[in-house]
Amino acid sequence: MNDKNIEQTVRDLQKRLREHNYRYYVLDDPVISDAEYDRMFRELQELEKAHPEFSRPDSPTKRIGGTLQKAFGTLEHRTPMLSLSNALNEKELREFHKRLVKFTGDAGTELVGEPKLDGLGVELVYENGIFTAGATRGDGYTGENITENLRTIRQIPLRLHGDPVPSLLEVRGEVIISKANFERLNRERGSRNEKPFANPRNAAAGSLRQLDPRITASRPLEIFIYAAGKIEGRDFDKHSGFLQALRDWGLRTNPLNAILHGEEEMIGYFRNMEQKRGELPYDIDGVVIKVNSMEIRDRMGMRTRTPRWAIAGKFKARQEITQIRNIEVQVGRTGVLTPVANLKPVQIGGVLVKRATLHNQDEIDRKDIREHDWVVVERAGDVIPKVIKVIEDRRPAGTRSYRLPDRCPVCGARVQRIDDGVAVKCVNRECPSQLKNGIQHYASKRAMDIEGLGGKTVEQLVENGLIASVADLYRLDREALLQLEGFGTKSADNLLEAVERSKRRPLSRFIYALGIPNVGEYLAGVLAERFGSLGKLMEADEDILTAIGDIGGIVAESIVNYFGNEANHATIRNLQELGIDPRAVKRKDTALKGKTFVFTGSLSGMTRDEAKEKVRRFGAKASGNVSSNTDYVVAGEEAGSKLDKARSLDIPVLDEEEFTGLLKKYSE
Ligand code: IVH
Repeated sequence: MNDKNIEQTVRDLQKRLREHNYRYYVLDDPVISDAEYDRMFRELQELEKAHPEFSRPDSPTKRIGGTLQKAFGTLEHRTPMLSLSNALNEKELREFHKRLVKFTGDAGTELVGEPKLDGLGVELVYENGIFTAGATRGDGYTGENITENLRTIRQIPLRLHGDPVPSLLEVRGEVIISKANFERLNRERGSRNEKPFANPRNAAAGSLRQLDPRITASRPLEIFIYAAGKIEGRDFDKHSGFLQALRDWGLRTNPLNAILHGEEEMIGYFRNMEQKRGELPYDIDGVVIKVNSMEIRDRMGMRTRTPRWAIAGKFKARQEITQIRNIEVQVGRTGVLTPVANLKPVQIGGVLVKRATLHNQDEIDRKDIREHDWVVVERAGDVIPKVIKVIEDRRPAGTRSYRLPDRCPVCGARVQRIDDGVAVKCVNRECPSQLKNGIQHYASKRAMDIEGLGGKTVEQLVENGLIASVADLYRLDREALLQLEGFGTKSADNLLEAVERSKRRPLSRFIYALGIPNVGEYLAGVLAERFGSLGKLMEADEDILTAIGDIGGIVAESIVNYFGNEANHATIRNLQELGIDPRAVKRKDTALKGKTFVFTGSLSGMTRDEAKEKVRRFGAKASGNVSSNTDYVVAGEEAGSKLDKARSLDIPVLDEEEFTGLLKKYSE
């Protein structure tokens, strides 16, 4: 290759990698595999190494400077980075709205609602489309120059996408770490005996303030852009237009941002986000409500440090400080021992919290959690509260490190380490705790749905020797039930009827009800569909199982082990003898057979998984990507780029109502 050709190849690779970055990080719609990307990336790296004259500071390979900085310099913000005033509850949000309406005289003044991300605010500077500098917020006027560290974040384009770009673009956004990546990062730190981060925000802040950008590069940082600094060469009359321009330039914006009209929509958005909070992959601590019109913003102006045209609606605190009374060990359905802290009851976000899970011995060791410690407890979404950290300064005298018992607290059998030693498990199959939990799971609403068979009743039945396996449920004797405390003729008959009714549940629920480790509701549905009967499923070996798209090696092994176990086998034989042998619900043959659906956004009447399950029952497919093979795109609330793609390909788009209508039409 001559120099001209090499230069051309280098430019071409740079351009293609930039385009793939944009698709991956901004559109969330990659068209090549990670491996293909890596190959291109390495090819470019090698060419640039051999021909440094063709490399450029904005090449996609130039994310890691590789030089250790002695200290961060400072960087002045061309326009100050403001903060927001807070509304601590709905009432204060409504007051903000009243002030706004008083000012504009229009109760429907357009607003933009955005999640308030709980990370680190930063500024990015693009000059003629090239990323030239980045800084922390600092005191609002001057921040620390963290350009080299920001360069390592793949969601920050080193060169803006598209044409034309403004001569100067300053944008502000939040650098965050997702909850899952935070957990992973802390696990890795634990295994190297490093102190864990207290929360994702601290992890993000700590990662950005590393003097060695290589360390920053190794951290899973992400960014969302939400505000403008100084811009030259482009004007916006609406914030929503600015957000759209950001996306066009390849800067990532939050897909949950929404245009709102009026007080009730604003409150609805606040409530909706608070409800969604637990399910989001990252932490948010409120919503930000902003006036959309730039002209109104200008007229409303500022207080000393905060604009009058925006407000942060903060959610109720999810963390509180309380004391651990003692640590108790529970034995779950699969025999795993879980340590649980009994707490001095404390109100968190409107719920009285009395217990928090401590997960396992590793977690206890890493955080050095002891009985009687004062701790920070967090309640996130609907999940079980957990202990975030110990307040060591408040540790009472005479506490000792906590160790899980080496015998099962329920049956006294020795416990064994599983999962590479992280968890401990009681392997005694007759352990009453496992038995009770297993039966309770079998009877639960989403499994066989046996009404009236809750934890207390199961306990009573097991302890009085009426049941020793789920099969015994179907042999329950009315007379024996009537002997039990609290049972009258009515409650006994109701229970027997509920048990009888459970015989008619479809195979998918039955498979889920068995409680095979690693098989949840979704996989149970996949297995039911693929095998049609329990007998067929029991014959499947690991090869057959892994040939099914959704099933990996660990799950396949877990299924084969489950059915290979003599006790499980006996229970299932018993069930079959008692007439419990559910079949898969037959797929309905309709005009929908063979069609491909893509779901985007959130549906109000069902989860996306439920929707997928429904179309599968009609013999249709559910796919994750829109392509020319897609037959229907079902768009829920806040549908994303898939919707745009569907429109550009002229694929029929259904809203939720049309979708349920379609299903109804074919189910009659
Ligand atoms: S706008 C003048 N939008 O919250 C408006 N801020 O006290 C400036 N934040 O320091 C900020 N999510 O770090 C805005 N969607 C969002 C935000 C957001 C999080 C942070 C930001 C700022 C603080 C406001």
